[in-house]
Amino acid sequence: MGSEINGVDLSVSIGTLRLKNPVMTASGTFGYAREFEPYVNLHRLGAVVVKGISLEPREGNPPPRIVETSCGMLNAIGLENVGVDRFILEKMESLKAVTVPVVVNILGDTVEEYREIAERLSDVQGIAAIEVNISCPNVKKGGVAFGTVPEMAAAVTLAVKEQSTVPVIVKLSPNVTDITIIARAVEEAGADSISLVNTLIGMAIDHRSRKPKLANVIGGLSGPAIKPVALRMVYQVAQTVSIPVIGIGGIETAEDVLEFMLAGATAVQIGTANFINPRASEEVVEGLVRFVTKEKLVSIREMIGALILP
Ligand SMILES: Cc1cc2nc3c(=O)[nH]c(=O)nc-3n(C[C@H](O)[C@H](O)[C@H](O)COP(=O)(O)O)c2cc1C
Repeated sequence: MGSEINGVDLSVSIGTLRLKNPVMTASGTFGYAREFEPYVNLHRLGAVVVKGISLEPREGNPPPRIVETSCGMLNAIGLENVGVDRFILEKMESLKAVTVPVVVNILGDTVEEYREIAERLSDVQGIAAIEVNISCPNVKKGGVAFGTVPEMAAAVTLAVKEQSTVPVIVKLSPNVTDITIIARAVEEAGADSISLVNTLIGMAIDHRSRKPKLANVIGGLSGPAIKPVALRMVYQVAQTVSIPVIGIGGIETAEDVLEFMLAGATAVQIGTANFINPRASEEVVEGLVRFVTKEKLVSIREMIGALILP
């Protein structure tokens, strides 16, 4: 199935979804994928994950919505997107030309919204998996994020699973005290895989103007600054669940990917690095090919969970 690059086996499986290599792009950092065609040979990636889709179109937050911080980026885009109907009509049409699995990231304000989006996507051709962003506030429960309360995370997972015809990946928020409790809840509710982490809540202030740098005041921190936190959470979750884990957070190089795989990740996603170097995802795949060749591994799967503890 073309899973070998220069005779090197980089393939991994996320439930029934086979990827030719473990490198995916992270939602919201790779547009609707085809914008990156001038820079990246999309065919060489494991999978692409598209921008989060809601039931109705969203304009997002007012600018400034992105600021740079040391070793990271703060964003408060506010989940701007075209809404599920236009996504299906316009974006999915163009995504059909992408030859690697297309994962659609979804978000909602209520459990019913998640269910409705999953239902509308259920008979659309060309979707390999659904990734459920549970970092969003539940408007019916006083704005508490779905991803911070195990029962709410489970309810969203169950609703999407009931409608979905493809594997369901639930994407966890790192803004919790014990991420393993949420991971266990979504696994029990039927998730096929867990991806983590989404951004960490942060803030930046300009001491001269005495104003917050983001119009939204607070935002999501991503990039190398969050990598050690993400790695720790991936390790903890991989120890807790038996479904495949997808590692996300500050990944820029093949070495970063290998660290996440040793911690127990089956695959990874590249986010903020795409803003620094639009070729980052493809270069990471090339780095993995070099590593597997040099180390004479039979398959990159040998690295998954192979951490040697002191
Ligand atoms: C500008 C921007 C937009 C994002 N939009 C989404 C989104 O729509 N849905 C989602 O689940 N995550 C979204 N994320 C989170 C990323 O997919 C990823 O989980 C996070 O940035 C951590 O990975 P990184 O450090 O490699 O960027 C966004 C991140 C950034 C920086």
